[in-house]
Amino acid sequence: MKILISDGLSNNGQKILEDSGLDFHIEHYDLENLIKEIPNYDGIIVRSATKVPKEVIDAGKNLKLIARAGTGIDNIDHVYAKSKGLPVLNTPTANSASAAELTIAHIFALARFLNKSNISMREGKWLKKSYKGFEVNGKKLGIIGFGTIGKIVAEKAIALGMKVIVNDVADIKTDLNVEVASLNKLYAEAEIITIHLPKLDKPLIDNAAIKKMKDGVYLINCARGGLIDERALLDNLNSGKVAGAGIDVWVNEPDFNIELAKHPNVSITPHIGAATVQASNRVGIQIAKKVVKELKK
Ligand code: MLT
Repeated sequence: MKILISDGLSNNGQKILEDSGLDFHIEHYDLENLIKEIPNYDGIIVRSATKVPKEVIDAGKNLKLIARAGTGIDNIDHVYAKSKGLPVLNTPTANSASAAELTIAHIFALARFLNKSNISMREGKWLKKSYKGFEVNGKKLGIIGFGTIGKIVAEKAIALGMKVIVNDVADIKTDLNVEVASLNKLYAEAEIITIHLPKLDKPLIDNAAIKKMKDGVYLINCARGGLIDERALLDNLNSGKVAGAGIDVWVNEPDFNIELAKHPNVSITPHIGAATVQASNRVGIQIAKKVVKELKK
């Protein structure tokens, strides 16, 4: 059986496929060529760059599975795949620690002007007096979405001395020292808000939501592009209602919103929440094992 690895896979993941006798080919095709090539494969492993819409699924006459080496399956028409009895596999928690660490990194970048000073010093400027930051110790962090990543962020924030207030659509059961509150209470009280939800049909944080927040709030999105409305974020950064934003994920990737990226009060990264050696090894191993198990059923 032959697998197409479309966006790369760690060496240890490849070894698991090899050892189990599965043949694989590593190549990224654009949509048109993917539709042409997919009938030659029994399975496809993607990360986030490759989209797997209905047309690819229909063309994949021999497909027995679609595997997402990562958490979010929003780049795959998973509802359609499942309706055709095609399993969609992923690695829901393999990236979580790395995504949580990046969230904390963006909080520190904003608190201590790392984003700005990295740029100004490269321009030869010594703006010591412009960078009076704040300690995160004692600050109230609002976490929207209290799944695996949200919980790891909470643990780390508590260790840093932050007060944590959380909200989720699901019932929250936790031993962590967090306050569970309505979204409106979280909006009203949190000084920094980070969101850890899957992709939604429309932004959760729009103008109306931002209006309910504290003046000078900081917003972090290391989850999915579009959970925060980019236009609303820009307008509120410009007015100062939002003091700063840490953004790893974008509505359009890789053609990201350059106006937002250039705003002086944002700390930005190109969707690298999972881009660590440890996460990609975990993802590679876990997805390869799942693929082998599914195909050897
Ligand atoms: C994921 O869903 O696994 C992460 O966002 C990482 C990625 O898509 O690259």
